[in-house]
Amino acid sequence: MRVSVIGCGYLGAVHAAAMADLGHDVIAVDVDAEKIATLRAGLPPFFEPGLPEILSTSLASGRLNFTTEMADVAGATVHFIAVGTPQSDASGAADLRFVDAALDALIPHLGPQDIVVGKSTVPVGTAERLAERLLTAGSTATLVWNPEFLREGFAVKDTLAPDRLVFGVAQGTGHDAALRALHEVYATAIAGGVPVVETDLATAELVKTAANAFLATKISFINAMSEIAEATGANVTELADAIGYDTRIGRRFLNAGVGFGGGCLPKDIRAFSARAEELGLGDSVAFLGEVDAINLRQRQRVIERVLTEGGGAETGLTVAVLGLAFKPHSDDVRDSPALDVALGLVAAGATVVAYDPEAMGAAQKRFPELVVAKNVDQALLGADIAVLVTEWPEFVELDPRRVGDLMTHKRIVDARNVLNPAQWRAEGFHYSSLGRP
Ligand code: UDX
Repeated sequence: MRVSVIGCGYLGAVHAAAMADLGHDVIAVDVDAEKIATLRAGLPPFFEPGLPEILSTSLASGRLNFTTEMADVAGATVHFIAVGTPQSDASGAADLRFVDAALDALIPHLGPQDIVVGKSTVPVGTAERLAERLLTAGSTATLVWNPEFLREGFAVKDTLAPDRLVFGVAQGTGHDAALRALHEVYATAIAGGVPVVETDLATAELVKTAANAFLATKISFINAMSEIAEATGANVTELADAIGYDTRIGRRFLNAGVGFGGGCLPKDIRAFSARAEELGLGDSVAFLGEVDAINLRQRQRVIERVLTEGGGAETGLTVAVLGLAFKPHSDDVRDSPALDVALGLVAAGATVVAYDPEAMGAAQKRFPELVVAKNVDQALLGADIAVLVTEWPEFVELDPRRVGDLMTHKRIVDARNVLNPAQWRAEGFHYSSLGRP
């Protein structure tokens, strides 16, 4: 099939490369000429395992092309809208400017039978509004919604072999043809047994929002338990293991720690709350405000823990901050708990030296004053205390003896609960984590 992808950010670039990898002819469009030039050269503008490989094979095959000209989408029959929907203001509402602009720019180039597929995360009701916009502009193309659930770090795998596919299509003319087109686009995944949920536009939009709200709630739930565990001498990891064995609950997303961040979960729960308010249903999802508050409190708790365990910032504390990305296998520092902890410690007067295997460039671009080390050893050298905030394998596998030799004082705050307390204590470390005695 000939498909176009509008927007070459995280979602769009991965989706375009994956579509080409599946054998489709793909034209990917972005207004950012620099990004397009980088992608044409086979270089992803961000770190994502597996992406460079499928980018280069797809470019070499000629099936993947990048452009800044929307007119180049002519000839494609399925058009994916994969632009960003950032948080607009303090209300938390999603900013839909880029989605609207992408559709408006696309409309003049659409054929009468074309399918426009929304992939961006949007407030429920957006798809219907966009479908009306198409009609008003005189287009007979069909608008459908097909949310994307990819996780950074696993984006290629999640796109090629997702847990499920959701096809939101409105009843009426174009319904059956649109479904057929979606089945054809994803034929490989569907043949591999991926379940497909065929539904209406509003449900498809809500599936994505609800899934992210549920995941965020799960994390904040266990983080709330970490506070209770701390006050009572209980162990939150053993608690998570035990409740996780209940298949109705499940163990995944029950890791207590410094909390969730990134470009999706935090903004999506805020946008969901804002949308519910607009619908006059703020009370129905009021708990998401609490989910957000618990999550942000964890960052503060980690900062305070480092300061108390380290003896207070006024003593000229030197802190090695291990991690800046919002999670391992990513260079993304958007709403990163790790970066917030580093900056919070600086604000409290500590001397911070941070290290992250992939995210230092992104962090320094935002905060040039942040001091970073060349490697983990350099960050640890002479530190009074270390805080592990992103669970990169390199940090999880650190040898406490070697770390102890580098540091001035043997103190570590494990803000992801990933180290073995007994092993670190055996090397003389003052070890502290969240919700574990
Ligand atoms: C998320 C959703 O998983 C994905 O389906 C959606 O499309 C986009 O948002 P992503 O932001 O890439 O994906 O990261 P994810 O792996 O979900 O982790 C989100 C955050 O939660 C990270 O900061 C992570 O460290 C944190 N987390 C996750 C925890 O704190 N504890 C856990 O047990 C799991």
